[in-house]
Formats: sequence, C-alpha cells, structure tokens
Amino acid sequence: AIMPVEADPKDMSVGYGGRPDREGVVTLDACIMDSEGNAGSVTFLQDIMHPISVARKVMEETPHVILSGDGAKQFALEQGFDSVDLFTDQSRKEFKQWLKEAKYRPVSNIENHDTIGLLALDKEGHLSGGCSTSGMAYKLHGRVGDSPIIGAGLFVDDEIGAATATGVGEMVLKTLGSFLIVELMRSGKSPQEACEIAVKRVIDKYDCKDIQVGYIAMNKKGEFGAYAIQAGFSYTVTSAKMNEIFKAKSFFTQ
Ligand code: GLY
Repeated sequence: AIMPVEADPKDMSVGYGGRPDREGVVTLDACIMDSEGNAGSVTFLQDIMHPISVARKVMEETPHVILSGDGAKQFALEQGFDSVDLFTDQSRKEFKQWLKEAKYRPVSNIENHDTIGLLALDKEGHLSGGCSTSGMAYKLHGRVGDSPIIGAGLFVDDEIGAATATGVGEMVLKTLGSFLIVELMRSGKSPQEACEIAVKRVIDKYDCKDIQVGYIAMNKKGEFGAYAIQAGFSYTVTSAKMNEIFKAKSFFTQ
C-alpha cells in the first residue's frame, strides 16, 4: 500500500517527486514493523524509489534495525534495487523557484509536508505498519525526521495496537508520539483518546500555531482513531466492509 504512493510523482512529500533538501538532494526516511516486534528502517536514503521495501529488507535480511545514508544505499543496491533520479520536472522547477529566495524556514505546515503511514490488521488479528517520507521540504542536508524512528513515526505492539504519525517530525520525535499512543491504549484508552492525548502533549509543550502533527491509531479489535493539530488531515480506512476517507478531528478547527 505504501509503494504506489512512493512511486507517485504527484505526491511531493514521499519518494519519487519528493521535494529535495536545501542542497537539492532528495533524501528519504522509512520504517516498517511487524507483529512479532521485528523492525527495519532507512534514514537519509538517496536515489531509491521504494525506501519502504529497503526498510523491509533491513528487517528481514540483517541483524540491524536502522541503516543510514550511503550505507543504506549500498545495502539497497546489493539487494537489487535500482538507482534512480527521484526528481521530476515539477519538483526541479519548484526547487529552482525556491532557490531564488532560499528562505530557510524550518517549520512545515499542512501544505508542504506529509508522510504515508499505514497500519494493518490481518485476518488472524495481527498488526503491522509502515511509513515513508521525503521529509520536510528544503530541510537542512542531513536532517532526519520521525518517520524512520521506531516509537516516533511508527510503533506496533501486536498485543495492544499500532500508531503512526505525520507532520513536523521534530515534534513527534521529542514526544515519542507513536509509542506514547500505544502505551495509552495499553492503559485502556481508545485509539481516538490516545491520539488526542498525544497531540495535546505536543501542544502543551511547544508553540504549535503554524505546524501540523497528525496521528492515526488502531487497536487489536480494529477500532481506529485519528487526531491532528490543524484541520485538513484526512485518512483512509479500508476493510472488507468499507473503503472510506475520514476527516480527522483537530485541535484547531480552522
Ligand atoms: N513526518 C515526517 C518528517 O518530519 O520528516
């Protein structure tokens, strides 16, 4: 489910066509976690169309959890992935435009930033998940967000539930949002309540007027929830019974 988004040139914050960093390099972060607690992740990966698949290879083929930068790319090439140019005409054009002012604005909002995050519950009732992003547009070279960090951008505990994040990774990292949500579900909160508490944790600690953080969560029973700082965060639920896009509730409603 994550791969088509990574390959979609129109999605400019994930994979192919993702906006580059301020040096003009597209760098990708992704992670994956299965129901047995296995995890794999890549950070600062370049020139590879499907970082989620490389993260899966890290999980399945190595004794490690995270591979980064050149090492992650070398591993991907050894695993048979192709090296590709991730720029599209559109992302190159926008970057050239950005360079005219090159205004470094290390905050991101709902327009220029997003992540594909996926939570899955299989027919035996086991949970898994993944997420993938090209991160914050025009970020500092070397910046890594929450998405490849287990517990921040994604966490799965097959006994309890799973959660994943989108938005400004720095806020998710500093509050370890996905792990927090799973722990809140462990203590009896519903997925919706847990997402709301995790978002409010960010709002209580940091100035969140102009930034977005959004979470989705699901428990063992398949109950789900979502919450965001800003309005405009939507998510899709697909099952045998439904395929529906929901608008998440948000702290700010405008
Ligand atoms: N949430 C994705 C990032 O901040 O990179």
